[in-house]
Amino acid sequence: MNKKKTVLVAGGAGFIGTHTTVELVEAGYDVVIADNLSNSDRSGVEGVEKILGRKMAFEIVDCCNEKELEEKVFSKYEFDSVIHFAGFKAVGESVSEPLKYYSNNFMSLITIMGLMKKYNVQNLVFSSSATVYGQPDTLPATEATPRQKANSPYGYTKQVCEDMIEGMVAANPSMHAIALRYFNPIGAHPSALIGELPRGVPNNLVPFITQTAAGVRECLSVFGDDYDTPDGSALRDYIDIVDLARAHVAAVSRMVDGKNKESYEIFNVGTGKGVSVLELVHLFEEVNNLKLNYKIVGRRPGDVEKIWASTDLANAELGWKATRPLGETLKAAWAWEKHVRGIK
Ligand code: UD1
Repeated sequence: MNKKKTVLVAGGAGFIGTHTTVELVEAGYDVVIADNLSNSDRSGVEGVEKILGRKMAFEIVDCCNEKELEEKVFSKYEFDSVIHFAGFKAVGESVSEPLKYYSNNFMSLITIMGLMKKYNVQNLVFSSSATVYGQPDTLPATEATPRQKANSPYGYTKQVCEDMIEGMVAANPSMHAIALRYFNPIGAHPSALIGELPRGVPNNLVPFITQTAAGVRECLSVFGDDYDTPDGSALRDYIDIVDLARAHVAAVSRMVDGKNKESYEIFNVGTGKGVSVLELVHLFEEVNNLKLNYKIVGRRPGDVEKIWASTDLANAELGWKATRPLGETLKAAWAWEKHVRGIK
């Protein structure tokens, strides 16, 4: 393996990790996947292997466990870059179990950065979130838009992790990092061999929609139609998972090729377009030629009214742009759900 061309994907068995692994390998990188399968399973890695037609280096390891991560990964493989997806991400759960989020999301980053320093691994891509912006005063949200007080422990971990990385990179001149602030990642690989596998009742909109269409859930609740938006439902920036995965390839390549302008950089990853919940529901029905059972209910506590990304910086600096039309993304999400449920 060529060290410069090998990437450790921590949390590589999950939704974003599997899609990113596929795009990295297709772009010529080798990948080592590390995952403890706490919120994913082997089928994600198997799907990646089917798409790529090759076996992946895959270690089952808890990224909070320094000894294990060193033995099974850092001392065993040579790589120059790490993409860190090994975090918990359920906003509601983080409110009821904050310590679970603090301990996992902080410790995994601390452990990974400590081993990066020890093994002189230079480049880190971190999965951050648009949640760091809260409800911005002006839209679109740019990378310079001030972060607001986090409205969940999950959001707080993203803010603190960004700051921890900034401090670590400032103290270690050979280290470089890019934080990608994702807007709302949705969809699935066009092969329908990998996708999102939420455990239990989905919190996020698109998995809830596809499970309702599949008959697993009876009815989608649309949270609020009294927002100050054209149709009253909340606006988000839905980014296709394959486009999002490619942003990670662009971030790794920027650092591997020495093109980064600062040792720590932040980029929004979105489409630049706000789409309402009702628009999304109706587009899903249209492109998949089905009717969705939904009802309007009250607002969900903690939700922001509207947010979408400015993508100018990512376009200019990463040379990255979202390309997949939303209708195609919603078709892929439905194809994946059908694959999971065995629906023809
Ligand atoms: C949330 C988090 C984000 C996190 C992402 C993925 C916040 C502010 N955002 O995004 O940081 O990265 O989850 O875990 O904490 N909706 C319905 N019915 C449903 C589900 C959702 O109407 O059954 C609506 C929501 O009210 C919202 C939109 O759909 O307006 C998107 O919701 P969701 O998919 O949960 O994502 P966010 O809350 O935007």
